[in-house]
Amino acid sequence: MQKRENWGSKIGFIMAAAGSAVGLGNIWKFPFTAGQNGGGAFVLVYLIFVALIGFSVMLTEFAVGRRRQLAAVGAFKSEDKRWTFAGVLGVLSGFLIMGFYPVVGGWALAYVFKVMGGLLNNPAAIGASFDAFITNATSPLMWMVLYLILNVIIVVKGVSSGIEKAGKILMPLLFGILIVIAIKGLTLPGAMAGMEFLFKPDFSKVDGSVILAALGQAFFSLSLGMGCMITYGSYLSKKENLVQNAAIVTSMDTAVALLAGIAMFPAMFAFGIEPAAGPGLVFVVVPTLFAEMGAMGPMFAVLFFIALTVAALTSSVSLLEVVVAFLIDEKKFTRKKAVLSSATVMALLCILASLSLGGVGPTLFGKGAFDVFDLLTDKIFLAIGGMLLCIFAGWRLKKEDLYGEITNNGTMDFPLFGMWYPLVKYVIPITIFLVAANGIRQGFESGSGPIMLVGIGIIAIFAAISKKL
Ligand code: PFF
Repeated sequence: MQKRENWGSKIGFIMAAAGSAVGLGNIWKFPFTAGQNGGGAFVLVYLIFVALIGFSVMLTEFAVGRRRQLAAVGAFKSEDKRWTFAGVLGVLSGFLIMGFYPVVGGWALAYVFKVMGGLLNNPAAIGASFDAFITNATSPLMWMVLYLILNVIIVVKGVSSGIEKAGKILMPLLFGILIVIAIKGLTLPGAMAGMEFLFKPDFSKVDGSVILAALGQAFFSLSLGMGCMITYGSYLSKKENLVQNAAIVTSMDTAVALLAGIAMFPAMFAFGIEPAAGPGLVFVVVPTLFAEMGAMGPMFAVLFFIALTVAALTSSVSLLEVVVAFLIDEKKFTRKKAVLSSATVMALLCILASLSLGGVGPTLFGKGAFDVFDLLTDKIFLAIGGMLLCIFAGWRLKKEDLYGEITNNGTMDFPLFGMWYPLVKYVIPITIFLVAANGIRQGFESGSGPIMLVGIGIIAIFAAISKKL
């Protein structure tokens, strides 16, 4: 057997795993999802899910991946062929998320150049210019393709050299810029209303959809429920401390999401932008904020969008890696062939997603491709994928084996094992089941229910034909 590639160093792994977690999910999706779901109460539910479910599922993914040193599909399949579908579902999620993620990554890349081209000169037109840009048929497609090409280059180069280097240099830069933005935002008149919106829970706004949105956000943001952290864990050395790694990655990801919220909401309230403004939020709020800063503004804005692009890149390469590892390990593709063929399919999905924002192309139950890909993955596949992983670990693997894997055969301490194990075996699967069921039921009021049911149907079909996958 070929020796498995390994992470160059411990810090390299953390940076890569945190790089996967920290991305558009934190800076683009978290703020607008929080805005659309009423603010504080959503944030609180999200934080509870991150602490109780996110951390435990991440640890489970690391353990399952490292145990057999196999990526998502192989990790399930090598234990029991009936479970192959759980891994393949992750690969499908990878494809679907990569069916819209590069569209937004392309926006971020485009904004680097738009800011340089004078976007900030007319603050009043920033919002309209964003709408005109994303609904345009061709221009976002060019940026998306450019963005995808960057992914291809990084992933073709392989695990330690490509992914690791990108993460190491650019993550700290992003964090620094977000702090600058947050400070600037907080000093604007009227900013405190934004902090209140974000952190003062109003429980009258909580319903089944809000809870499912918070669960989906936790999974999406932490890169869980689709085998990504299984795949990354499979490259992890047997000496590493899994618990510590999971704790660090979870906290870093959550810190960046909260920081992004603090960077965005005070400024929004100060500028009188609607909290429910939707996917354009970062692309409107941040440039508007920097336009206020005078001569230094454009420079900071350029740096911000470079950092956002890089954060997006370190996440999307991990998405691509899930699909690529599957094609290499299970279908015996060469790395290059795996990357090029999957990126081509992703580009086609992205074209559908991008065009759908301008109202062009096919719809499913009245929703365009962008929304369909997002709904299926964020609301259904990731959470159910996480549920399946926990059922697999809790009921299919032996408790002693898990204990051995997590504690490196008893050489490392994990005093919380006694809590983690029942969480994974009982509490998390039941919680996800209830949250998903309730969320789908409520989804019928907003028109997203039928699509979520389609998602459940796809999972059922996968499960039925698992041995053939
Ligand atoms: N966690 C990434 C983000 O927040 O942008 C998105 C993501 C990456 C989701 C990898 C899932 C995944 F497997």
